[in-house]
Amino acid sequence: MIKTIGLDIGGTKINGAVINERGEILKTYKLETCAKEGAQKVLYNIEKIINELKDDDIRAIGVGTPGFIDSEKGIVTFAGNIDGWTGLNLKKEIEKRSGIKTFIENDANIALICEKWLGAAKNYDDVVMITLGTGLGGAVYNSKMGLLEGANFQGAELGHVILYPNGEYCTCGQSGCAEAYCSGSAIRRHYKQLTQQDKTGEEIFNLYEKDEIAKNVVNRFIDDLSWYLTSLRNIFDPEIIIIGGGVINSSKIWWDKLIYKFNEHCHLASKIKLKPAKFLNDAGIIGAGKIAMERLENE
Ligand code: BGC
Ligand code: NA
Ligand code: ZN
Repeated sequence: MIKTIGLDIGGTKINGAVINERGEILKTYKLETCAKEGAQKVLYNIEKIINELKDDDIRAIGVGTPGFIDSEKGIVTFAGNIDGWTGLNLKKEIEKRSGIKTFIENDANIALICEKWLGAAKNYDDVVMITLGTGLGGAVYNSKMGLLEGANFQGAELGHVILYPNGEYCTCGQSGCAEAYCSGSAIRRHYKQLTQQDKTGEEIFNLYEKDEIAKNVVNRFIDDLSWYLTSLRNIFDPEIIIIGGGVINSSKIWWDKLIYKFNEHCHLASKIKLKPAKFLNDAGIIGAGKIAMERLENE
Protein backbone atom coordinates (compact mmCIF):
# COMPACT_ATOMS: atom_id res chain seq x y z
CA MET A 1 0.00 0.00 0.00
CA ILE A 2 1.27 3.49 -0.90
CA LYS A 3 2.46 5.64 1.98
CA THR A 4 3.12 9.37 2.01
CA ILE A 5 4.06 12.01 4.55
CA GLY A 6 1.52 14.75 5.21
CA LEU A 7 2.71 18.02 6.79
CA ASP A 8 0.41 20.69 8.13
CA ILE A 9 2.24 23.94 8.81
CA GLY A 10 0.34 26.16 11.22
CA GLY A 11 1.13 29.47 12.87
CA THR A 12 2.23 27.72 16.09
CA LYS A 13 2.76 24.02 15.28
CA ILE A 14 3.89 21.83 12.41
CA ASN A 15 2.07 18.50 12.44
CA GLY A 16 3.51 15.63 10.47
CA ALA A 17 2.23 12.11 9.81
CA VAL A 18 2.67 9.04 7.68
CA ILE A 19 -0.59 8.32 5.82
CA ASN A 20 -1.67 5.31 3.81
CA GLU A 21 -4.14 4.93 0.91
CA ARG A 22 -7.03 4.43 3.29
CA GLY A 23 -6.25 7.71 5.06
CA GLU A 24 -5.03 5.94 8.17
CA ILE A 25 -2.45 7.73 10.28
CA LEU A 26 0.45 5.35 10.82
CA LYS A 27 2.87 7.57 12.70
CA THR A 28 2.93 11.19 13.84
CA TYR A 29 5.50 13.76 14.89
CA LYS A 30 5.14 17.44 15.62
CA LEU A 31 7.28 20.45 16.49
CA GLU A 32 6.76 24.15 17.13
CA THR A 33 6.68 26.20 13.93
CA CYS A 34 8.79 29.08 15.33
CA ALA A 35 7.10 31.35 12.78
CA LYS A 36 8.76 34.48 14.13
CA GLU A 37 12.29 33.07 13.85
CA GLY A 38 12.36 33.16 10.06
CA ALA A 39 12.08 30.70 7.19
CA GLN A 40 15.39 28.87 7.82
CA LYS A 41 14.33 27.87 11.31
CA VAL A 42 10.91 26.70 10.10
CA LEU A 43 12.56 24.70 7.31
CA TYR A 44 14.95 23.19 9.83
CA ASN A 45 11.99 22.00 11.92
CA ILE A 46 10.29 20.60 8.82
CA GLU A 47 13.44 18.65 7.99
CA LYS A 48 13.57 17.24 11.53
CA ILE A 49 9.96 16.06 11.30
CA ILE A 50 10.55 14.42 7.92
CA ASN A 51 13.68 12.64 9.22
CA GLU A 52 11.65 11.34 12.13
CA LEU A 53 8.86 10.01 9.88
CA LYS A 54 10.56 8.84 6.72
CA ASP A 55 11.43 5.33 5.69
CA ASP A 56 12.21 3.69 2.36
CA ASP A 57 8.53 3.18 1.50
CA ILE A 58 7.52 6.85 1.56
CA ARG A 59 6.61 7.81 -1.99
CA ALA A 60 5.96 11.55 -1.66
CA ILE A 61 5.41 14.44 0.73
CA GLY A 62 2.33 16.67 0.74
CA VAL A 63 2.34 20.02 2.53
CA GLY A 64 -0.46 22.34 3.58
CA THR A 65 0.64 25.86 4.50
CA PRO A 66 -1.16 29.18 5.02
CA GLY A 67 -0.91 31.75 2.26
CA PHE A 68 -1.26 32.12 -1.47
CA ILE A 69 0.33 28.99 -2.92
CA ASP A 70 1.33 28.42 -6.53
CA SER A 71 0.75 24.69 -6.31
CA GLU A 72 2.23 24.12 -9.78
CA LYS A 73 5.63 25.60 -8.93
CA GLY A 74 5.41 25.02 -5.19
CA ILE A 75 6.00 28.70 -4.40
CA VAL A 76 4.45 30.63 -1.52
CA THR A 77 3.52 33.84 -3.34
CA PHE A 78 2.24 35.54 -0.19
CA ALA A 79 1.97 34.57 3.47
CA GLY A 80 1.27 37.06 6.24
CA ASN A 81 1.65 34.71 9.22
CA ILE A 82 5.15 33.17 8.87
CA ASP A 83 8.17 35.50 8.64
CA GLY A 84 10.17 34.99 5.46
CA TRP A 85 7.62 32.62 3.89
CA THR A 86 6.58 34.99 1.09
CA GLY A 87 8.49 34.23 -2.12
CA LEU A 88 9.89 30.91 -0.89
CA ASN A 89 9.98 27.91 -3.24
CA LEU A 90 8.84 25.55 -0.53
CA LYS A 91 8.66 22.56 -2.86
CA LYS A 92 12.33 22.91 -3.84
CA GLU A 93 13.46 23.61 -0.28
CA ILE A 94 11.80 20.47 1.04
CA GLU A 95 12.88 18.29 -1.88
CA LYS A 96 16.48 19.47 -1.41
CA ARG A 97 16.40 18.58 2.29
CA SER A 98 14.51 15.28 2.04
CA GLY A 99 15.27 13.85 -1.39
CA ILE A 100 11.53 13.05 -1.67
CA LYS A 101 9.11 14.40 -4.27
CA THR A 102 7.03 17.15 -2.61
CA PHE A 103 3.70 18.87 -3.38
CA ILE A 104 2.54 22.13 -1.78
CA GLU A 105 -1.02 23.40 -1.31
CA ASN A 106 -2.89 26.03 0.71
CA ASP A 107 -3.83 24.78 4.20
CA ALA A 108 -7.59 25.32 3.87
CA ASN A 109 -7.61 23.60 0.46
CA ILE A 110 -5.90 20.65 2.11
CA ALA A 111 -8.51 20.55 4.88
CA LEU A 112 -11.27 20.40 2.29
CA ILE A 113 -9.48 17.61 0.41
CA CYS A 114 -9.56 15.61 3.65
CA GLU A 115 -13.26 16.36 4.29
CA LYS A 116 -14.09 15.45 0.69
CA TRP A 117 -12.18 12.20 0.94
CA LEU A 118 -13.33 10.93 4.34
CA GLY A 119 -15.34 13.58 6.15
CA ALA A 120 -18.27 15.98 6.08
CA ALA A 121 -18.02 16.72 2.32
CA LYS A 122 -17.89 13.07 1.26
CA ASN A 123 -21.26 12.89 -0.50
CA TYR A 124 -21.37 16.38 -2.00
CA ASP A 125 -20.25 17.70 -5.39
CA ASP A 126 -20.31 21.44 -4.68
CA VAL A 127 -18.67 22.43 -1.45
CA VAL A 128 -17.34 25.56 0.19
CA MET A 129 -15.22 25.28 3.31
CA ILE A 130 -13.97 27.88 5.73
CA THR A 131 -11.47 27.23 8.51
CA LEU A 132 -11.73 29.42 11.59
CA GLY A 133 -8.43 29.47 13.41
CA THR A 134 -5.74 32.09 13.89
CA GLY A 135 -6.58 33.07 10.32
CA LEU A 136 -9.67 32.46 8.22
CA GLY A 137 -8.99 30.00 5.44
CA GLY A 138 -11.22 29.18 2.48
CA ALA A 139 -11.59 26.46 -0.12
CA VAL A 140 -14.03 25.86 -2.95
CA TYR A 141 -14.48 22.45 -4.55
CA ASN A 142 -16.54 21.15 -7.42
CA SER A 143 -16.46 17.49 -8.40
CA LYS A 144 -16.01 18.26 -12.11
CA MET A 145 -13.48 21.06 -11.72
CA GLY A 146 -11.67 20.13 -8.52
CA LEU A 147 -10.31 22.87 -6.27
CA LEU A 148 -10.82 26.46 -7.36
CA GLU A 149 -7.28 27.85 -7.73
CA GLY A 150 -7.85 31.04 -9.75
CA ALA A 151 -5.71 32.60 -12.52
CA ASN A 152 -2.78 33.22 -10.15
CA PHE A 153 -3.43 30.45 -7.62
CA GLN A 154 -4.82 33.10 -5.30
CA GLY A 155 -8.46 32.17 -5.52
CA ALA A 156 -10.69 30.96 -2.72
CA GLU A 157 -8.84 33.21 -0.25
CA LEU A 158 -12.18 33.63 1.45
CA GLY A 159 -10.69 35.16 4.59
CA HIS A 160 -9.80 38.30 2.66
CA VAL A 161 -13.26 39.06 1.35
CA ILE A 162 -14.09 42.57 2.61
CA LEU A 163 -16.76 42.43 5.27
CA TYR A 164 -16.48 46.04 6.49
CA PRO A 165 -15.06 48.58 4.00
CA ASN A 166 -12.29 50.60 5.72
CA GLY A 167 -12.63 48.31 8.72
CA GLU A 168 -9.99 46.77 10.95
CA TYR A 169 -6.48 46.05 9.72
CA CYS A 170 -5.78 42.54 8.39
CA THR A 171 -2.45 40.64 8.15
CA CYS A 172 -2.82 40.67 4.34
CA GLY A 173 -2.45 44.46 4.21
CA GLN A 174 -6.11 45.20 3.43
CA SER A 175 -8.62 46.60 5.90
CA GLY A 176 -11.96 45.13 6.86
CA CYS A 177 -11.36 41.53 5.76
CA ALA A 178 -13.60 38.77 7.12
CA GLU A 179 -10.50 37.38 8.88
CA ALA A 180 -10.34 40.56 10.99
CA TYR A 181 -13.83 39.77 12.38
CA CYS A 182 -14.48 36.03 12.10
CA SER A 183 -11.40 34.21 13.38
CA GLY A 184 -9.82 33.12 16.63
CA SER A 185 -7.38 36.01 16.51
CA ALA A 186 -10.21 38.50 15.88
CA ILE A 187 -12.10 37.34 18.96
CA ARG A 188 -8.94 37.62 21.01
CA ARG A 189 -8.18 41.11 19.71
CA HIS A 190 -11.74 42.36 20.22
CA TYR A 191 -11.79 41.11 23.80
CA LYS A 192 -8.42 42.73 24.48
CA GLN A 193 -9.54 46.05 23.00
CA LEU A 194 -12.42 46.13 25.49
CA THR A 195 -10.76 44.69 28.61
CA GLN A 196 -6.96 45.08 28.12
CA GLN A 197 -6.85 41.36 29.01
CA ASP A 198 -5.24 38.79 26.76
CA LYS A 199 -7.27 35.57 26.72
CA THR A 200 -7.35 32.77 24.16
CA GLY A 201 -10.37 32.38 21.90
CA GLU A 202 -11.37 29.24 23.78
CA GLU A 203 -11.24 31.04 27.14
CA ILE A 204 -13.40 33.85 25.78
CA PHE A 205 -16.03 31.40 24.45
CA ASN A 206 -16.10 29.68 27.82
CA LEU A 207 -16.79 33.00 29.54
CA TYR A 208 -19.95 33.48 27.47
CA GLU A 209 -22.41 32.98 30.34
CA LYS A 210 -20.27 34.65 33.01
CA ASP A 211 -18.79 37.76 31.45
CA GLU A 212 -20.90 40.38 29.67
CA ILE A 213 -17.97 41.58 27.52
CA ALA A 214 -17.11 38.05 26.40
CA LYS A 215 -20.77 37.53 25.54
CA ASN A 216 -20.85 40.69 23.41
CA VAL A 217 -17.63 39.76 21.62
CA VAL A 218 -18.91 36.26 20.85
CA ASN A 219 -22.33 37.55 19.75
CA ARG A 220 -20.65 39.99 17.40
CA PHE A 221 -18.57 37.11 16.00
CA ILE A 222 -21.74 35.06 15.42
CA ASP A 223 -23.52 37.95 13.75
CA ASP A 224 -20.57 38.83 11.49
CA LEU A 225 -20.07 35.17 10.58
CA SER A 226 -23.73 34.76 9.65
CA TRP A 227 -23.61 37.76 7.27
CA TYR A 228 -20.35 36.54 5.81
CA LEU A 229 -21.76 33.04 5.20
CA THR A 230 -24.77 34.62 3.53
CA SER A 231 -22.45 36.31 1.02
CA LEU A 232 -20.53 33.09 0.40
CA ARG A 233 -23.78 31.30 -0.23
CA ASN A 234 -24.81 33.97 -2.74
CA ILE A 235 -21.50 33.82 -4.60
CA PHE A 236 -21.05 30.05 -4.78
CA ASP A 237 -24.48 28.48 -4.25
CA PRO A 238 -22.84 25.33 -2.83
CA GLU A 239 -24.76 22.29 -1.59
CA ILE A 240 -23.02 22.68 1.71
CA ILE A 241 -20.68 24.99 3.60
CA ILE A 242 -18.32 23.21 5.97
CA ILE A 243 -16.84 25.06 8.91
CA GLY A 244 -13.59 23.77 10.37
CA GLY A 245 -10.54 25.07 12.23
CA GLY A 246 -9.77 25.33 15.94
CA VAL A 247 -12.73 27.62 16.73
CA ILE A 248 -15.00 24.62 16.07
CA ASN A 249 -13.76 23.20 19.39
CA SER A 250 -15.97 25.80 21.08
CA SER A 251 -18.91 25.31 18.73
CA LYS A 252 -21.32 24.18 21.45
CA ILE A 253 -21.37 27.83 22.55
CA TRP A 254 -22.10 29.32 19.13
CA TRP A 255 -23.28 26.75 16.56
CA ASP A 256 -27.05 26.84 17.17
CA LYS A 257 -27.04 30.61 17.42
CA LEU A 258 -25.16 30.81 14.14
CA ILE A 259 -27.64 28.58 12.33
CA TYR A 260 -30.51 30.69 13.64
CA LYS A 261 -28.92 33.96 12.48
CA PHE A 262 -27.86 32.52 9.17
CA ASN A 263 -31.38 31.36 8.36
CA GLU A 264 -32.69 34.76 9.40
CA HIS A 265 -30.23 36.62 7.12
CA CYS A 266 -30.18 34.29 4.16
CA HIS A 267 -33.28 35.27 2.22
CA LEU A 268 -32.51 34.12 -1.28
CA ALA A 269 -34.19 31.03 -2.75
CA SER A 270 -32.71 27.78 -1.47
CA LYS A 271 -31.36 27.45 2.02
CA ILE A 272 -28.11 25.56 2.18
CA LYS A 273 -26.66 23.33 4.84
CA LEU A 274 -23.97 24.37 7.25
CA LYS A 275 -21.97 21.50 8.72
CA PRO A 276 -19.04 21.32 11.12
CA ALA A 277 -15.90 19.64 9.80
CA LYS A 278 -15.41 16.01 10.82
CA PHE A 279 -11.64 16.26 11.12
CA LEU A 280 -10.23 19.05 13.22
CA ASN A 281 -6.59 18.62 14.13
CA ASP A 282 -5.98 15.80 11.64
CA ALA A 283 -7.54 17.37 8.52
CA GLY A 284 -4.24 18.97 7.49
CA ILE A 285 -2.02 15.90 7.74
CA ILE A 286 -4.56 13.58 6.09
CA GLY A 287 -5.39 16.03 3.27
CA ALA A 288 -1.70 16.72 2.68
CA GLY A 289 -0.92 13.01 2.51
CA LYS A 290 -3.80 12.60 0.06
CA ILE A 291 -2.70 15.30 -2.40
CA ALA A 292 0.79 13.79 -2.36
CA MET A 293 -0.72 10.46 -3.51
CA GLU A 294 -2.96 12.06 -6.14
CA ARG A 295 -0.38 14.38 -7.61
CA LEU A 296 2.29 11.73 -7.72
CA GLU A 297 -0.09 9.62 -9.79
CA ASN A 298 -0.85 12.50 -12.18
CA GLU A 299 2.78 13.42 -12.83
C1 BGC B 1 -4.32 33.04 4.77
C2 BGC B 1 -4.85 31.80 4.08
C3 BGC B 1 -4.95 30.66 5.06
C4 BGC B 1 -5.72 31.08 6.30
C5 BGC B 1 -5.77 29.98 7.35
C6 BGC B 1 -5.15 33.33 5.98
O1 BGC B 1 -4.64 34.46 6.64
O2 BGC B 1 -4.35 34.13 3.85
O3 BGC B 1 -4.04 31.45 3.01
O4 BGC B 1 -5.60 29.59 4.42
O5 BGC B 1 -5.15 32.23 6.88
O6 BGC B 1 -4.51 29.62 7.79
NA1 NA C 1 -7.70 28.32 -0.07
ZN1 ZN D 1 -7.07 40.18 4.72
